[in-house]
Amino acid sequence: MSLKIAVIGGDGVGPEVVREALRVVESIAKPQGLSYTTTDLPYGGEHYLKTGEVITDAQVQELKAYDAIMLGAVGTPDVKPGVLEKGLLLKLRFDLDQYINLRPVKLYPGVETPLKDKGPDDIDFVCVRENTEDLYCGNGGIARKGTAQEISTQEMITTRFGVERCVRYAFEIARTRKANGYPGQLTLVHKTNVLTHCGDTWFRTFNEVGEADYKDIERVYHHVDACCMYMATKPEIYDVIVVPNMFGDIITDLGAAIAGGMGVAASGNLNPDGTAPSMFEPVHGSAPDIAGQNKANPIAAIDSIGLLLREVGRIKGDDAALKCGEKIGQAVQAVTPNFTGKQLDRSGYSCTEIGTMVIESLAAAAVG
Ligand code: NAD
Ligand code: IPM
Ligand code: MN
Repeated sequence: MSLKIAVIGGDGVGPEVVREALRVVESIAKPQGLSYTTTDLPYGGEHYLKTGEVITDAQVQELKAYDAIMLGAVGTPDVKPGVLEKGLLLKLRFDLDQYINLRPVKLYPGVETPLKDKGPDDIDFVCVRENTEDLYCGNGGIARKGTAQEISTQEMITTRFGVERCVRYAFEIARTRKANGYPGQLTLVHKTNVLTHCGDTWFRTFNEVGEADYKDIERVYHHVDACCMYMATKPEIYDVIVVPNMFGDIITDLGAAIAGGMGVAASGNLNPDGTAPSMFEPVHGSAPDIAGQNKANPIAAIDSIGLLLREVGRIKGDDAALKCGEKIGQAVQAVTPNFTGKQLDRSGYSCTEIGTMVIESLAAAAVG
C-alpha cells in the first residue's frame, strides 16, 4: 500500500514550511518502511491571478483520489480578502466534509509561553472546532449597498446534525485522553446568554449526547468571553474544548499564542468518516510580512504532517504511517528545548535550519 498525499503549498510562507515538512517525512520514510507519493498542486494566489480560477468543482473531486491533503497557507495581499480563503480553504473543508477542525494546544518542552508561571503541565488541551457550519456558511447578503441605508447580514447556521456529530467526536477524544491519564472532561464553549437560538441547540445536544452515551466524561460549560479569560489565566482547567466554528477560530489563535506562537500550532481538518480525504495545515496564515525570507518557523507544518500520518495511518490501517507520525511528533518535542529562552516565532533560526534539526533528531533517535 502506498499513501497518496496531495500537497498544496499555497501562498506566502506556505510553500516554505511545507517543504520542510516533506523533507522530514522523506528522511524517515525509508527506514520505517513507509511507502508514499506526493503530488504538488498549484492552487493559491498565483494560480488564481494566472487562471482566474481558485479551484473548480472538478478539481475538488480529483482530490478525492488522495488519502490526505497537506496545505501550507492561503491568502495574499495581491488578492481581495476572502477570495482565496473562501474559494479554496473553506471550499475544501466544506466539499470534503471535513467537519472537525482538531487543534491541540500543547506547550512543548523548552518553549516559552507569554503566561507567567505556567508550564507544559498547565497548557495541554485540545480544541475540537466545528468546521462546516456557523457564520462560515456565508448565508446573507448586502442590500442598498453604498447608500446610507446599507444593510448586511451574515447568518449563524447551526444544525442538530452538524452539532451532534461534532460533539460526539469531542466526547470520543475526551474518552481516549482519559484512558491516557487526562481528566476526562469536555467543555462546551459558546455564548448561550446572547445566542439563545444557536446556543440552545448546542447546549441541549451537548447535554443529551453526554447524558446518553458519555456519562464517564465530565461536562462543563463556559461562555466564550470567559473562556478567553481562563485561557490566559488558568489554562490548566481545560482538557477538551468543543466549540462552534467562529468562536473556535478565535480561541485557537489565542491557544496558539499561549503555546508558544503561530509557528508552532498544528491542525487537522478531519473527515472522520473517511468519505473524503482529511486536510492538515498549520494554524497560521501565509505571513506575508516574512514570506520569502526563510524566516518562518516550520514546526507547525512539521507537526501537522505528523498528525496527517497518524490520522491516515489509523484510518487506513497503515502501521508504518502511524509509526512515522508518532516519531515526527516525538522529534518535534525533542528539538523544542533548543529554543529555551527564545520566542519560537522569532528564534533566530531559519526555516531550513529548524527542519534540519528535526531531521537530525529523528536520525539520532534511530541510532540511539
Ligand atoms: P498570519 O498567521 O499569516 O500571521 C500573523 C503573524 O504571525 C505575522 O506576524 C506572521 O509573521 C506570524 N507568523 C505566522 N506564521 C508564522 C511562522 N510559521 N513562523 C513565524 N511567524 C509566523 O495571519 P494574518 O497576517 O492575519 O493573515 C495573513 C494571510 O493569511 C491572510 O490572507 C489570511 O486570510 C490568511 N490566513 C490563512 C490561513 C490558512 O491558510 N489556514 C490561516 C490564517 C490566515
Ligand atoms: C484558520 C483561518 C481560516 C479560518 C481563514 C483563513 C478562512 O483563520 O484556519 O484558522 O477562519 O478558519
Ligand atoms: Mn484562524
